[in-house]
Amino acid sequence: MTGVPIAALDGRTALVTGAASGIGAAIALAYAEAGARLCLADRTGEPVLDAVRKRCAAFGHEVVTVQADVSSEPEVERLFGAARVMLGAVDVVVNNAGILTESPVLDMPTALFDEMLSINLRSVFLCSRAALPPMLAAGFGRIINIASQVGQRGGAGLAHYAAAKAGVIGFTKSLAREVGGTGVTANCIAPGPINTPLGGTLSDEWTRTLMAELPLKRSGEPHEVAPTAVLLASEPGGNLYTGQTLGPNSGHVMP
Ligand code: NAI
Repeated sequence: MTGVPIAALDGRTALVTGAASGIGAAIALAYAEAGARLCLADRTGEPVLDAVRKRCAAFGHEVVTVQADVSSEPEVERLFGAARVMLGAVDVVVNNAGILTESPVLDMPTALFDEMLSINLRSVFLCSRAALPPMLAAGFGRIINIASQVGQRGGAGLAHYAAAKAGVIGFTKSLAREVGGTGVTANCIAPGPINTPLGGTLSDEWTRTLMAELPLKRSGEPHEVAPTAVLLASEPGGNLYTGQTLGPNSGHVMP
């Protein structure tokens, strides 16, 4: 059990990117428990994605998977096309897929910077644009973008990651203003350090410094982030949030 309100998303359909691992898998599970039908997308396919599908399907609602690279425009078009054929309307999109690499600006290869922006920011634009037309037509939609506290406070060795995540926050605020009054909302979740394979790619020195700075003195678990994504997707809990950045971050950023 994920501890989320039962039936909070009954009758809703959600697409979660990066659903094969970590925070995306935890959000998918929480959405399944809350009653949503799901499309799980990831560039990692079988058997990993299918294992998450099976765990979600155990809650009794339809779950489909699509292997896709969300930084690619044709792949995103294929993904949303497939989701609509298999599930009908997509009411909630969680743009969660992401990577983390580390390099000082001085030594950073241009390709490393471009890859980061492409996967962690361009994908959010591509998936939001693909999701919007049916949401606007239906008068309901929830776009939830996974940013990071690093996008709010910066991080040495993480300038490219911080730039992408700050970009996600700015993109989300702008989209929230553009679609205001249509029934569609756009929000960010900016987690602090969370124990996932991605978090494990940071150097020991980075991790030690980070833990010492956290007011809660501990990193989080993916299932401690997921309920925030349920809240933002649900009615009436999510109704009044748009353009916001919610921070399950162990107190590291206090805006
Ligand atoms: P993870 O590595 O456990 O999962 C990321 C998933 O995204 C993987 O399944 C991967 O295959 C998928 N993915 C990566 N690039 C993709 C692409 N181009 N197309 C489709 N799928 C792709 O990582 P985690 O920690 O669960 O991260 C999820 C999100 O949360 C990311 O956006 C990350 O930046 C963000 N985040 C993570 C934090 C942490 O400490 N773990 C803290 C703050 C934000």
